[in-house]
Amino acid sequence: MHLPRHPYFMVTFMILANTVCHGIIILEEDLETPPEVLKTGSLETLTLDCPFVMEEKDIPEHLTVQWMYNGYDVNIYQWIPITDTKPQSLGPFKDRVNLEYEISSDPMYKHRALSLLNPTTELTGIYTCRVSSFEDDDKYLNRRVIIYSEPSEFKIQTEQINQTNVKITCEADNIFPEPEVYIYKNYNGELVQLEDTAEEKTWKSSNGNEGEGTYTIHAEVTIADEDLTGLTQFGCDLRIPETNVSFTDTLSYEPRITIVSYEDYEPESAPRNDLSGVSPHEAASTRSGSSCRCHFVVLLLFVSVLLATLSL
Ligand SMILES: *[C@@H]1O[C@H](CO)[C@@H](O)[C@H](O)[C@H]1NC(C)=O
Ligand SMILES: *[C@@H]1O[C@H](CO)[C@@H](O)[C@H](O)[C@H]1NC(C)=O
Repeated sequence: MHLPRHPYFMVTFMILANTVCHGIIILEEDLETPPEVLKTGSLETLTLDCPFVMEEKDIPEHLTVQWMYNGYDVNIYQWIPITDTKPQSLGPFKDRVNLEYEISSDPMYKHRALSLLNPTTELTGIYTCRVSSFEDDDKYLNRRVIIYSEPSEFKIQTEQINQTNVKITCEADNIFPEPEVYIYKNYNGELVQLEDTAEEKTWKSSNGNEGEGTYTIHAEVTIADEDLTGLTQFGCDLRIPETNVSFTDTLSYEPRITIVSYEDYEPESAPRNDLSGVSPHEAASTRSGSSCRCHFVVLLLFVSVLLATLSL
């Protein structure tokens, strides 16, 4: 039997084990269990364990393991160890659970885990395990499951709405669950969120089932070109709450009015360091070469005007 090694847990476990002789002890705490995060269609089964121990050798007659979905009203799974029969899946989960799955060979524990088949977005939610017997209070464990779908048609775009302002639009389709939307500008590597972004998130149900579907996202913000200092990268992030999952699209935009700040100003004759592969010396000589040509043309013009004047 696998026991978590958390010291706080071990102390709690030892205290409980000494004081409650016939109790049910669930070997995990809600807060210690991070959510299960997975991409829709990426797994054949998702197993949620409900590790508990009984301080008895024989299986208590009334020991029952249940799983409930999004609250205590929807019972989706039930198993009574003493009957030595398979568990049952119920209601909307009737065909979504692998009833053959055994997490342990011990007859007291073997079907305590819920094994969900082909987990897809609509199975996102909170799963609660309840272990009950006549001898003790019911014990609960909550497991959070987030099954996301990647957006399609996801893009950020710019549109110049008049001479001075630009509209930045971020759109995405088929994303689940509802994401947080951030439009930002990349300011020398620092991402600055653009304020006053208007967002619209539309629920689109699929398979004729109101509870199953995805979101369509539209967000936009208008800014003035003069608030930008030269070539700017805009980005749009769609973040799935409570996870590290996010999707990003970026775009470069050249504002029409560029404010050159004093520090950015470089005299024309100074060698530029953005000519990759060309040494400053070569860059400088390329420059002086072209200014020589320019002087030469002026000289030619002057000479031809002089000759024309003389020949008159
Ligand atoms: C351009 O559009 C912005 C935003 O709609 C508006 O505030 C601004 O007055 C407009 N400017 C011109 C020159 O039309
Ligand atoms: C997100 O990533 C951090 C750092 O990698 C990790 O500590 C944290 O547990 C992750 N959170 C989730 C919900 O996966």
